[in-house]
Amino acid sequence: MIDLTPDEFRRLGYLAVDLIAERMAAQPDLPVRQPVPADLRDRLMSPPGATTADPEALIRRVAEEVLPYPMGNGSPRFMAWVNSPPAPLGILGDLLASAVNPSVAGGDHAATYVEHGVLHWIKSIFGYPADAGAILTSGGSVANLIPLAVMRHCKAADDMRKRGFNGEDFPMVIYTSTQGHSCIQKAAELLGFGSAYLRKIPVDSDQRMSLDALRDAVEDDRAAGLRPVCVAASAGTVNTGAVDPLHAIADLCAAYDMWFHVDGAYGGFGILAPSARAHYAGIERADSIAVDPHKWLYVPVECGCALVRDAAAMRETFSLIPPYLRDDRALPWFSEFGIQQTRGFKALKLWLTLQQVGTDGYSRLIENDIALAGLLQDKILASDDLELAAAGPLSVTCFRYRPNSEMEDGEIDALNRALLPRVQESGEAFVTGTELDGRAVIRACIVNFRTQEAHLDRLLAAVRRAGEETLRADGNSRNRL
Ligand SMILES: Cc1ncc(COP(=O)(O)O)c(C=O)c1O
Repeated sequence: MIDLTPDEFRRLGYLAVDLIAERMAAQPDLPVRQPVPADLRDRLMSPPGATTADPEALIRRVAEEVLPYPMGNGSPRFMAWVNSPPAPLGILGDLLASAVNPSVAGGDHAATYVEHGVLHWIKSIFGYPADAGAILTSGGSVANLIPLAVMRHCKAADDMRKRGFNGEDFPMVIYTSTQGHSCIQKAAELLGFGSAYLRKIPVDSDQRMSLDALRDAVEDDRAAGLRPVCVAASAGTVNTGAVDPLHAIADLCAAYDMWFHVDGAYGGFGILAPSARAHYAGIERADSIAVDPHKWLYVPVECGCALVRDAAAMRETFSLIPPYLRDDRALPWFSEFGIQQTRGFKALKLWLTLQQVGTDGYSRLIENDIALAGLLQDKILASDDLELAAAGPLSVTCFRYRPNSEMEDGEIDALNRALLPRVQESGEAFVTGTELDGRAVIRACIVNFRTQEAHLDRLLAAVRRAGEETLRADGNSRNRL
């Protein structure tokens, strides 16, 4: 019914692994993604039957109905959002972790020590002490939420756990830049600060938080009787990869007794690339950092990580040990440092990939992504029909298709918005768009160990082709009017 004999498991496991390997071999030449046919959508969403189904038939169904319609991020021509291909050993790590299936809430079993091991490594690369607080999370959003909850606990005038915001006389204010990720706003809302008390500070021409504007906002809020408590800086904004001036923000936080948080979900591990390292100076002074191994360490989703310098404060924020969990006190439990009680064994896929690649290997892989972004930018600068909108210092490039220098801004916006679905549907490359200073741009983010120069050429060719088709379709529809 539900169990399999070891022999059946072995046979089905080999089948599944064969299917994955076939897909990996074919992927470079396959469309990045293809639309899911309407009848298949219905089938995938239909409820399970009441009777049992044959396990092999089910795996073959996955081969036909799921694997051919991926999001696309295993492809070397996928450069959208911040989604990497899965490191193959990480895929096997997920399988092995499910086979052990522990709850890594804590306790004396191997999975706990594996997680402590990877957390030590992550702390060390950001210059954090070995005894700092740390926990793996589902992703960057929760890796930001957890430290901001610790910040709220520490900055509250009264006992936040007991009285919540009812004990506060003055509203607390958080600062991020206009380029800060939406998860900072979600956290501010969820934690009860309210989005009206999240200031979005303007950025300079490099899309970095303006220090003068930050200082002015903090002064204004203090003068208005509010309590500035935290700056959530970015080490790699999602739009352009900008890294805020971390040392200067750390100084400002120290001067105003504010918590200094860094969102490094996309860019944090860029610190490993020699060419980018200098941009991270000051991150080691942060009270807390969010990073995301499922982005630039290429670990299969989900795998984020929250670091909080003051482990005792982190524990004070979350620890609540009911009587039925008081029998194992070897090491503090992870469940005392975060939201979840039962926790998956995410650490294994990260541990395996880290051991395989090594620190030097990661430096090279991340540096290579940054170099490819530089190459893409050179190609754009060398083209008359493309304009560069934002570049560096990490692996994001924003650009626009502008086939005619007479075109007005509004027309270029409309053209670039309209051509994107055509690029995506072409299967040649997958990129998404964003807005910069109110202008529509195409955004390519390379966190992909499979991408090579030829793939950049295919992306630019697909953009040009989609642009021409859009203009032609536009001309035809005007002629018909
Ligand atoms: C800068 C930044 N912060 C936070 C996040 C949210 O991370 P996740 O999607 O893993 O929750 C992202 C996602 O792209 C990001 O780029």
